[in-house]
Amino acid sequence: MAAKRDLLRFITCGSVDDGKSTLIGRLLHDCGVIFEDTYTALSADSQRHSTTGDAMDFALLLDGLEAERQQGITIDVAYRYFATPCRSFIVADTPGHEQYTRNMATGASTASLAIILVDATKGLLPQSRRHSIICSLLGIRHVVLAINKMDLIGFDAARFTAIAAEYRTFAAALGFQDITALPISARQGDNITSLSSKTPWYRGPFLLAHLEAVDVAADDAAKPFRFPVQWVNRPDEDFRGFAGTLASGRIAAGDAIMLAATGAQSRVARIVTADGDLPEAVAGQAVTLTLADEIDIARGDMLVAPSARPETADQFAADVLWMGNEPMLPGRDYLLRIGHAWTTARVTSLRHRLEVTTREYQAARQLEMNDIGLCHLSCLQPLSFDPYAKNRATGAFILVDRFTHETVAAGMIRHGLRRATNIHRAAFTVDRTARSESYGQRPILLWFTGLSGSGKSTIANLVEQALFAAGRHCYSLDGDNLRLGLCNDLGFTPADRVENIRRAGEVAKLFLDAGLIVLGSFISPFRAERQMLRELLPAGEFLEIHVDAPIETCIARDPKGLYAKAKAGLIPNFTGISSPYEAPENPDMHLKTGDFTAEECAEQVLQALRGKGIAC
Ligand code: ADX
Repeated sequence: MAAKRDLLRFITCGSVDDGKSTLIGRLLHDCGVIFEDTYTALSADSQRHSTTGDAMDFALLLDGLEAERQQGITIDVAYRYFATPCRSFIVADTPGHEQYTRNMATGASTASLAIILVDATKGLLPQSRRHSIICSLLGIRHVVLAINKMDLIGFDAARFTAIAAEYRTFAAALGFQDITALPISARQGDNITSLSSKTPWYRGPFLLAHLEAVDVAADDAAKPFRFPVQWVNRPDEDFRGFAGTLASGRIAAGDAIMLAATGAQSRVARIVTADGDLPEAVAGQAVTLTLADEIDIARGDMLVAPSARPETADQFAADVLWMGNEPMLPGRDYLLRIGHAWTTARVTSLRHRLEVTTREYQAARQLEMNDIGLCHLSCLQPLSFDPYAKNRATGAFILVDRFTHETVAAGMIRHGLRRATNIHRAAFTVDRTARSESYGQRPILLWFTGLSGSGKSTIANLVEQALFAAGRHCYSLDGDNLRLGLCNDLGFTPADRVENIRRAGEVAKLFLDAGLIVLGSFISPFRAERQMLRELLPAGEFLEIHVDAPIETCIARDPKGLYAKAKAGLIPNFTGISSPYEAPENPDMHLKTGDFTAEECAEQVLQALRGKGIAC
């Protein structure tokens, strides 16, 4: 029986014409993984697109998509599998262009080793540094510095040594465990799958030999036991198992385990697999665990070693790589996934942005696509995690847009934030129930959203007058008014508007707690923040009212003369002119103020409130 081959996942990083695809193509070809039909297609392609004259262009092997070929760059992560008698390999080939940091990071997040390709004729480029910093941030500890195109500099040993020395000095602070420098020619095959006679001065291994021998022996097994529960398997009354893959450590039948979130403890009764029970399982193995005691465990929970509990917190600091097309906005809610757990999370502050070429942290208000920043995040529920530097599997998360379901960020947790843990809500005897009973009314937030000049404040004012006359206790929160006080430090950038609505929402929440009917009139142009308000309040206490007039009508009304100024370019980020308004898709009420008078619209609102028993 052949011994089970282990697997090395690596990533290749380099600029577009450093020869990255050529190198991978060469490895795949020389390891014999190209099947004949691919080979034929490749020969035909080479003649059509080749940049190498008659010679086979290995880069074409990887740049699979026609569109990419036409652009001459690779625009996505391509994973390739190959094997030698001693090891299997999965290589992530990722684009070199700066704007594709997110793709590179995707490839790096699962790799143990990075090949940093450097063009010997050019030396180290900012790109080589960028890629190395990203690899380091994403937890890669083994680096091959492949100094390519040695044929073009006559296999000059001195040049090779100089580049390697410069790289080692630069990388000293990046925490790599080993850096192996290799003089190669990807195109001619020197030092790739055999030692080259053209570099007699080079004593090290050739690339493939190094890849076969490098010891990345997953120290995951030596780390504390971590088992994110993927699903609860309960086929009948007698069996209750927790299925998942060991993220790290090992576990044996009889071992003590703990539920990370609550500290509840038990012992492993059985380790069940499709091939029968195991006495023990290690990192990377997919198993079903049954426990000696009934404890309440759900998908997304994490079972851990009681002697080495992870952190559990609802706020933490993390390095965040932004991947979304829209910039990251502190204050906005996203879905966060860590292991198999999902929660709602918000970036509470962006501490700084990492200038990836120089490793400097700079002040910033938002992150654009491909930016990396240190952020503080706050989650709806506490999460259990390890710092990413200690455990890549339990310290990494992603953020997902709640509307488009696009993955907008990858995050690496640094540590929990203690602040939140030491604050406890104070309970008061005179509470919202006592107050609303005494006032004889049910608190509700009437949220008027719409363009400037659509009639929000006018209608809110009429509604409030009627409620007040009927003896209701109300309060109006108005965008313009709040901006004169509480929010006078905020402008109209997307980030500032998110914060504006967050504050307005928190104030409204307090007023609802005080038993009041609250009328909020804010443009509130983003649906994400209106959704945030809905979730901030108890069900049924938020009524989204779209005050809808066509932009032309608002421009014609222009009660404050602001549209005229905005059109003259005097007001930047003006909603409807130079900043978007995302109309509600499913508002609770839709008032067409172009077709009805303000009085008629107010009456519609009052009628709806009567229907809910809120107005008389
Ligand atoms: S929001 O977008 O953050 O919800 P808010 O309702 O508080 O805005 O404030 C909007 C009011 O600010 C408008 O009614 C208008 O009088 C004034 N304003 C000043 N500059 C702008 C701008 N660039 N865009 C929209 N409104 C502006």
